[in-house]
Amino acid sequence: MNPQYTDLANQVAMMIKKQGKNSLQSICDLLRDQVPHFNWVGFYFMNDEKRVLEIGPYAGDETEHTVIPYGTGICGQVAISGKSFLVEDVSKEDNYLACSLTTKAELVVPIYKGEVLIGQIDIDSHKRNPFTLHDEDFLKQICDWLGEVL
Ligand code: SME
Repeated sequence: MNPQYTDLANQVAMMIKKQGKNSLQSICDLLRDQVPHFNWVGFYFMNDEKRVLEIGPYAGDETEHTVIPYGTGICGQVAISGKSFLVEDVSKEDNYLACSLTTKAELVVPIYKGEVLIGQIDIDSHKRNPFTLHDEDFLKQICDWLGEVL
């Protein structure tokens, strides 16, 4: 873990330990408050029967994208690939669902429970190209921890 994220990661770990699956809203609020380039932080969960992602807790502006078909948008593509997706500049993506005109970049990291893809954490930023591998590592760590309690 990059030192930049050590304290925050410890706080998240503590929240998950104390609140388990009820920690999601607090995690969204904490990350949005503490990381300047995280302007919208939220969770989406897989509904394999309907082949859609359903929104979970989030912090940031309200979004109309509460249900996203697999394959649609950045999130929908991650639902199919099962891999992290870092978009440095959303204006260059054809398959993108705009939540807000202020969003310039997006990072989506999948959540696995064992081998099963169950959801994802979605970060939107008002800055263009703000994300580093440290962000991705930090979010992957959170997703690994969450995979154990969700
Ligand atoms: N931009 C996402 C939709 C979700 S919002 O960012 C909250 C996408 O293209 O899948």
